[in-house]
Amino acid sequence: MKLRSAAVSLGMALGLVSGCAEAPEAAEDFGSSSKELVDLAFFETDQPTNRHTLVGLALDVENGVGTPIEVRSRQRFFINQIDIRAFVETNMDNPNLEDLRASGDFAGLDWDNVALKENEPILLSNPDGTFTDRRFYRDADWMEKGSVFTVWQVDEHGRRISRKLYHYVGTDDRRGLFDSFFVRRLRGIQWANDCAAPTDCSTATSFIEEGLVELRNTRNTLNSFRISRRATALRMSWSARPGRPYEIPITQIEEPEFDYGFDIDVAAVTAPGPHGYYEPGTDVTFQITLEDGRGTPLHPQGSLPTYADVAFGVEDSGITYYNAFFDASATYWRRKHRERMLMAQIIGPNQDIQPIRTIAPLSVFLDEEDTEVVGTPAVDGVYAEFTLLPPANVIFGGAFTPGTPQWFEPNVDTFTFHIPEDAGAGTYKVSVKGRRVYLGEDIPRTTTIEIQVGTMTETEPLLTTGPCNTCHSGGGDLSRILHANDDRAACAGCHVPLGFELEGPVFVRTHFIHSRSDRFDNSLAECSTCHVDNDSIQRTSKAACMSCHTEYPATHVAWFGEIESAYIGGGAESFEQCTGSCHTEHPGSNFAGF
Ligand code: HEC
Ligand code: HEC
Ligand code: HEC
Ligand code: HEC
Repeated sequence: MKLRSAAVSLGMALGLVSGCAEAPEAAEDFGSSSKELVDLAFFETDQPTNRHTLVGLALDVENGVGTPIEVRSRQRFFINQIDIRAFVETNMDNPNLEDLRASGDFAGLDWDNVALKENEPILLSNPDGTFTDRRFYRDADWMEKGSVFTVWQVDEHGRRISRKLYHYVGTDDRRGLFDSFFVRRLRGIQWANDCAAPTDCSTATSFIEEGLVELRNTRNTLNSFRISRRATALRMSWSARPGRPYEIPITQIEEPEFDYGFDIDVAAVTAPGPHGYYEPGTDVTFQITLEDGRGTPLHPQGSLPTYADVAFGVEDSGITYYNAFFDASATYWRRKHRERMLMAQIIGPNQDIQPIRTIAPLSVFLDEEDTEVVGTPAVDGVYAEFTLLPPANVIFGGAFTPGTPQWFEPNVDTFTFHIPEDAGAGTYKVSVKGRRVYLGEDIPRTTTIEIQVGTMTETEPLLTTGPCNTCHSGGGDLSRILHANDDRAACAGCHVPLGFELEGPVFVRTHFIHSRSDRFDNSLAECSTCHVDNDSIQRTSKAACMSCHTEYPATHVAWFGEIESAYIGGGAESFEQCTGSCHTEHPGSNFAGF
């Protein structure tokens, strides 16, 4: 079935098609006309909120224990994100997560059919010289089959004091009407933590087995309730694990300092040259202001919190920085939404934007420079530079220095990009992405502004893919999922291959996620679903092809080597073009008669 008639999306938004969902508890909570209802259904995070506004709640459970949250008192919420994790440590290299299945919070789940799908070692060694491998599992019945999460409020005596909100997990391989979230990833991971080499874990003795539930981006914000004055906790039951609802303590805050919502304001503080544009070869400084939905700045102008303040929970506006030291992430397979980087890029000119395939080594993260030049006109055909906030030499330099002194350094809200001498004339994009986790809400935001370099004539990007919204709509819009960025020309400057994370480029990640997901309800071979023409699938490389394919013929093994990486096929060579004459067509592509 292909999604989705306008009537069905309206029905979804109104909660009419979602089976057992109850009627809204009080009519006055909702607009009176269907137009208002549709406007209400998906809200913008840069708008002011009040206690009647629908706000998305993110729930988190670890080893059976709900993470307590503070919320604005008597706020109306829908459930936008559910993260559940259970893990066990073991010294056994179990082939099928045997220890996780035998003990702990996920022991009662139906693990029949669980299967190892693929593995991907981490390229950087551990401090003691060992390596970490990650083995990814799915297909267990609890992952494959539909289940239901039910959430309700309780008072201090544990009595239910609200209606129940039902959330349908849907089956793994189809998005249907009974499917409450756009992103649905249920899986198991075995971590082998002390391997002798990335590809040799035969002597490893330290393992973690974990089960993960990742549900996010609701498809029905009207499936909501208002927090009762008497509520002291939420309970969440899961039909795959019946009888023992999780408890998530809530504390209601009467007058929070900030509003919900999140916006990033970006402005160039360096004035353009006399002709109204920036000259190639100049430095341009940008300033960002992080704001809540009411437009209130979250920090005094000129400063941002230190890395330590954010990492150790001192900072209370909810802003987040790179978090993967504390909650590891792996593209598609594990918690990328919790990596939570604050980051900025510049890329341009627009007409030259294309994927960058030059690898940025770890050293550029640790050197003196606060920003990283990752694309040059001479080599990549486009200029791109990025910076982390705080800069990478603070975040990563700190992680590699005893006592992490850099993490305590004051942090500024400005960054400077150096437009090179050989920069082409035209329009350039400057994007800042971030996340805010505040009073139960966990939301991304990206802002992109444009500047002119070398000319006042505006130029446009030439996209080779898109528009993507056949599927990315109704809650899965690119403006809402991931980092809330639907400007698809504004991706490639942040997404370059990194020496320690080669799978950075957007073509790798997009191919990988859509090929691993069973919820891509189209033929994967039909490149025309995403690509605009046959020209755009010509640059054959391991990274482009092996981000979908998991194997290739014996001839290819002899010519190009064994498959080493689930994400990109091989190592650094994966970004080289293997051929310009073979594979000029792809079977089933729906291009050029195929
Ligand atoms: C300002 C930098 C920046 C821009 C611009 C950007 N990204 Fe990302 N992207 C990141 C970072 C950093 C991560 C890692 C997760 C995080 O920190 O949010 C990421 C993660 C991802 C992932 C992995 C998601 C997963 O579930 O594993 C995908 C896919 C992705 N980005 C696609 C895109 C696309 C498509 C665009 C353009 C529309 C884009 N990104 C623009 C920085 C950026
Ligand atoms: C045929 C439907 C379909 C099309 C077309 C499609 N997508 Fe997706 N996309 C999905 C589904 C389904 C998921 C969720 C996968 C999952 O989590 O299992 C997804 C996930 C993603 C994610 C990851 C979101 C996250 O939070 O990790 C990104 C980014 C993305 N798509 C970008 C794109 C881009 C860019 C295009 C166009 C070039 C595109 N998609 C075209 C169905 C589609
Ligand atoms: C889910 C969407 C999606 C599908 C389906 C898809 N692609 Fe892509 N592909 C992308 C995106 C996004 C890019 C990056 C485009 C850009 O940034 O210019 C890309 C880029 C590429 C590139 C260029 C890589 C480079 O180094 O520049 C090749 C080659 C490619 N795809 C091959 C294919 C083939 C072959 C198919 C069909 C079998 C296919 N793609 C199907 C999304 C998709
Ligand atoms: C978006 C995912 C995707 C990408 C990217 C992709 N393919 Fe495919 N490819 C498929 C699917 C799906 C099939 C059909 C099922 C199969 O044979 O695995 C296929 C089939 C093929 C076949 C036919 C295999 C056979 O046994 O008949 C070849 C050859 C092939 N691909 C080569 C490539 C090359 C070369 C690239 C890179 C330029 C590429 N593919 C990129 C998904 C992809």
